[in-house]
Amino acid sequence: MIEIKLLDKKGLAEYLYSDAYIQSPVIPVTRHRALSQIRNPRAEAEDVLLLLAYEGSVLVGYLGVLPDRMNGSLKCGWMSCLWIAPEHRGKQIAQKLLHHCFEAWGQKILATEFTAPAKKLYDKTGLFRDLQIKRGLRLYLRSDLYTLLLPRNPWFEKIGFFLKAFDAVANAVLDTRFLFWKPGHKGLTLEYIREIDEETALFIERTRSVNGFQKGAAELNWMLQNPWVLSAPEKDDFGKRYHFSSTDCSFDFHAVKVKNQANQLLAFLIFSKRNRSLKLPFCYVETETDAVLQVLDFHLHRWRVNAFTVFHPALVERLRQRQSLLFLKREVRRHYLISRVFDLETSGFEIQDGDGDCGFT
Ligand SMILES: CC(C)(COP(=O)(O)OP(=O)(O)OC[C@H]1O[C@@H](n2cnc3c(N)ncnc32)[C@H](O)[C@@H]1OP(=O)(O)O)[C@@H](O)C(=O)NCCC(=O)NCCS
Repeated sequence: MIEIKLLDKKGLAEYLYSDAYIQSPVIPVTRHRALSQIRNPRAEAEDVLLLLAYEGSVLVGYLGVLPDRMNGSLKCGWMSCLWIAPEHRGKQIAQKLLHHCFEAWGQKILATEFTAPAKKLYDKTGLFRDLQIKRGLRLYLRSDLYTLLLPRNPWFEKIGFFLKAFDAVANAVLDTRFLFWKPGHKGLTLEYIREIDEETALFIERTRSVNGFQKGAAELNWMLQNPWVLSAPEKDDFGKRYHFSSTDCSFDFHAVKVKNQANQLLAFLIFSKRNRSLKLPFCYVETETDAVLQVLDFHLHRWRVNAFTVFHPALVERLRQRQSLLFLKREVRRHYLISRVFDLETSGFEIQDGDGDCGFT
């Protein structure tokens, strides 16, 4: 008999220090991720943030929900981190969690960045329709076979030494390009910030779309200050019991204001850098995509990035047109699902790369 428990902010805060959490061989959330969830400025006291599936006293599955708002006021939640213990898969436990989640959230649920089995599950329930399929680009600048192949098959761990050796030799050759390619940011000044200031907040308000998830200073500050992946030399005890990202060698957000010589703000960018993988979760710009590309090149070079992934439509278009020996390009897609309950005006609907739970990993 499977029992589903629902945790709101208060329930989650108590659960984190309970014996059920401390002694469980599997945990449904790390402490820092849970605290981040609790501090989400869009989470209200009664919102269900975590659903737990128990068989007796054993945790056999879980599903997180990230509260958000659309088009200014529409309340909604992103499903985040669905997991069922391998020995309990195929028993409709995920489906049960999903139905409880829809009930708790009045059906106002979205999903993105899901695995293929999860997509089959979502299709089977008939609860969702497509919101958007974003076409993006991934640029590969350096060799990183080890990181690319390992998630595909654990067998690659056995030849991990050779993959790393190949990467080291290939990159010694590839890095010679950086001696000749030295992009700067001429005519632009950069200012790195840790917190959204008033000038930036006003710029974001001016440049963001009227439809979409419309993050403001409070939401962006919350993300910058409450990452879900912590930089650490190794996985700690919590990370070892958790099946999604918890720590990595390095993870950081880099928020940068881009100005011209007249001190006018042209763009505001938030990069996330995980080891040598770079993303651009938030990009606010009016027309100056040239300036953004200049700043992007500068960071790709300075950080010796292995790969950069972007879905921002204007940047994708510009990068697609660009012929360069500096990187290989691959088309990538990101699928967004939305509950059928929403009757939404989706024209001009803006989804930033970091909306949903994607911005955190
Ligand atoms: C995906 C996952 C959550 C499914 O959990 P589950 O409890 O086994 O799923 P259910 O038994 O409720 O399956 C319901 C339906 O989903 C689909 N489905 C579930 N697992 C599937 C799989 N591995 N392959 C194809 N379809 C699958 C089927 O249509 C299934 O219906 P059926 O049993 O009548 O064929 C589970 O396999 C899991 O934890 N995987 C690893 C983590 C993961 O991928 N999480 C999703 C993150 S976005």
